Amino acid sequence: MRYPEEVIEEVRARNDIVDVVSGYVALQRKGNNYFGLCPFHHEKSPSFSVAPGKQIYYCFGCGAGGNVITFIMEYENYTFGEALQLLADRAGITLPKRAYSQEEKAQDDLKKTLLEINKLAANYFYHQLKQPQGKIGYDYLRGRQLSDETIRHFGLGYSNKVSNDLYRFLKSKGYGDDVLKETGLVTIEEKGSRDKFWNRVMFPIMDINNRVIGFGGRVMGEGKPKYLNSPETRLFDKSRNLFGLNFARTSREKYILICEGYMDVIALHQAGFSNSVASLGTAFTSQQALLLKRYTEQVILTYDSDGAGVKAALRAIPILKEVDMSVKVLDMTPHKDPDEFIKNLGADRFRERIEKAKNSFLFEIDVLRRQYDMEDPEQKTKFYQETAKKLLTFRESLERDNYIQAVSREQAIPYEELKRLVNRMASHFVPGSKAAGGPGLSGGEESREGDEAGTARSGVSGSTGPFGVSGGTGPLGIPGSLDRSGAPGSLGRGQAADGADRPAAGRRQKPLRGREEGVRQAQRLLLTWLIEDPGLFSKIKGIVSADDLVDPLYHQVAERVFDSLEKGSVSPAAILDGFINDEGQYREVAALFHASVKDSLSNEEQRKAFSEIVRKVKENSLEQARKQATDLGSLQKIVKEQAALRSLHISLD
Ligand code: GTP
Ligand code: MN
Repeated sequence: MRYPEEVIEEVRARNDIVDVVSGYVALQRKGNNYFGLCPFHHEKSPSFSVAPGKQIYYCFGCGAGGNVITFIMEYENYTFGEALQLLADRAGITLPKRAYSQEEKAQDDLKKTLLEINKLAANYFYHQLKQPQGKIGYDYLRGRQLSDETIRHFGLGYSNKVSNDLYRFLKSKGYGDDVLKETGLVTIEEKGSRDKFWNRVMFPIMDINNRVIGFGGRVMGEGKPKYLNSPETRLFDKSRNLFGLNFARTSREKYILICEGYMDVIALHQAGFSNSVASLGTAFTSQQALLLKRYTEQVILTYDSDGAGVKAALRAIPILKEVDMSVKVLDMTPHKDPDEFIKNLGADRFRERIEKAKNSFLFEIDVLRRQYDMEDPEQKTKFYQETAKKLLTFRESLERDNYIQAVSREQAIPYEELKRLVNRMASHFVPGSKAAGGPGLSGGEESREGDEAGTARSGVSGSTGPFGVSGGTGPLGIPGSLDRSGAPGSLGRGQAADGADRPAAGRRQKPLRGREEGVRQAQRLLLTWLIEDPGLFSKIKGIVSADDLVDPLYHQVAERVFDSLEKGSVSPAAILDGFINDEGQYREVAALFHASVKDSLSNEEQRKAFSEIVRKVKENSLEQARKQATDLGSLQKIVKEQAALRSLHISLD
């Protein structure tokens, strides 16, 4: 952490979370807490809660949670440093100059420089488009029915035919080869340096804060490769960004359209669907699903109508389902992609298709059917069986029945028959996962450029146009958000951001088994209760310690909680600071501190519940210790403790 802890503590303490959040969300008091509509996902009834006592917030709907600093980070898309600055200003605190380590400073400077260079390059390409030598690019884009306004909005450009044109331009701006080779825009070689992009129309790729992080370049007409993309760099992480999301995130629609190509996104935006995005020449990832989940609960896949598009949809569905999105699939036939659809049939017809978009499960069944020859009784039977198997993946009987109804209607299978088949299968078949795809459909398909995991996390909020497009010296001339990036990348570097450790695409994480989750719940409750009622600490001292909370993250939290309790006071918001570098972690910690069920219990029930929780936590930790015990002595000791636990009585009086 770059600021001394006391400074962070002071900034946080002088910014009451209810005051700050009220500036963004209308809050209403309910009991000890405040509730409002969650700013991090769309909802109609409030599940976003702010606890003034703990100085933290948590959304029961989407799982967003944290303290006042993370709130600003997430809401404003600020880095930690920027959020702290905002809150310090708000409270009239002057932050001390930061003590950078050499390494940190070098990394920050590099990232800043790369952003600068990308922006210069974007400006350069845009400028070329308007020059005589760029007319070929301009004509190409106009030929594809893009308006001047659209070209400006997306900052589209042209890379010259000269092989080291951009390289010379960037050199003239004073950048050295060592930094230029980090941009991915040029290849530095002894015998001469070359531009990566040459005689192509250029699509700048922006992060959610309108900062240019990479480029896609398309040949004009035929030629291979059709699209060339920037390689991954310190800035450009293809698995964590989406083309068009910088605009789509402020669209007012409830849902986001996901398509395959840059041209599709651009055509859709031009036709008024500014809620569309595309992945960056690679397969859709779970990080992208999580990124989208910040802005919407509902997506519509508008992938190409060809075989590759169908495959891509089948791969994306489980990834989106994994983060609890509602997913539909749009039927584009007879056209290939949104761009062509709109060109041929117009925006109104496209909107009709949106309204008719199909539930992703029913889409999967449709695709499944195409694998079978329905004229052949044997194959038809097989299709029914596979369908029933897939229906089994709905564990909730009401939901399952709704789907049985829908499938029977759509596929003209008699409802009673299908239901009987599903029930019969249920008795001797336990479904493994809910992964999509029928025979020969899942797996195998590879992204065009591979999708390695990356590290960067975009974090600085910026102006509204592309790289600061808003008049002035021309569309790309404004410094924009670049100048504000005091500490880019202070978050998440080298850390797994939320979801990074999720299982790979398509595979569903097994839910924790009942007992395991029960133990985790007990650990959460114990920590929450101790925080809400520090007096309980004296009752359990000597019985339970931080070491009894065995889940690694909970253990870290417990150490801090027990330590603070020992010293006399505990601040959940301060404890959260320790996890602020990792979005996944601080969210989970905030969730943990909201585990209270106390309010709904009577006094008598509370007593009983508390004893039970302590017992469960301890039992689990002893059980684990017993499994790991290597010598007889310690084993005997553990067994003794286990026996003592059975007769333990915790008095809360
Ligand atoms: P247009 O043909 O210009 O309409 O583009 P499109 O978006 O319809 O192209 P397509 O459906 O073929 O490809 C969808 C996306 O996949 C593109 O936007 C690129 O991101 C990516 N892509 C397509 N072709 C290539 C290629 O040759 N190389 C790489 N790296 N990516 C490609
Ligand atoms: Mn196309």
